[in-house]
Amino acid sequence: MKIVIASDHGGFDLKEKIKKYYADKGVLLDDAGTHSSDSCDYPDIAAAACEKILNKEADWGILICGTGIGISIAANRFKGIRAALLYSEDVARLAKEHNNANVVVFGGRTMDYADVIARLEAFEKASFGGERHQRRIDKLDLLGEE
Ligand code: RB5
Repeated sequence: MKIVIASDHGGFDLKEKIKKYYADKGVLLDDAGTHSSDSCDYPDIAAAACEKILNKEADWGILICGTGIGISIAANRFKGIRAALLYSEDVARLAKEHNNANVVVFGGRTMDYADVIARLEAFEKASFGGERHQRRIDKLDLLGEE
């Protein structure tokens, strides 16, 4: 399972901590940037990670900005990306069970590290429910088309 991670400057510190958490478990994340705490633009960062998922270079991704909002909006502009802002453990589980999210999003300035790890664990432990949820997901890619 290949995981891409990316953040803007507002999520840089949390990104580095999440990378270490996975490295300690023997999992190396693909870091699509940013590579310092210098200011950068979250749409560019979302694009770098989402393109890897859509090109099948990664199975799913973790995105972080200051609030998690800007980078969620950016990621969800990409057809085929289902980015979910994980604001609780229950939501993390449901983001997999109902939405089959392929991107999970956190706020580097608004979320606690331990909470983020608990949400990642809940997301990874859950399974997609399929059936009516698949029907709804299929409709997402048709939105905006005549
Ligand atoms: C950057 O200052 C900040 O606006 C960004 O990280 C994010 O929170 C936007 O939604």
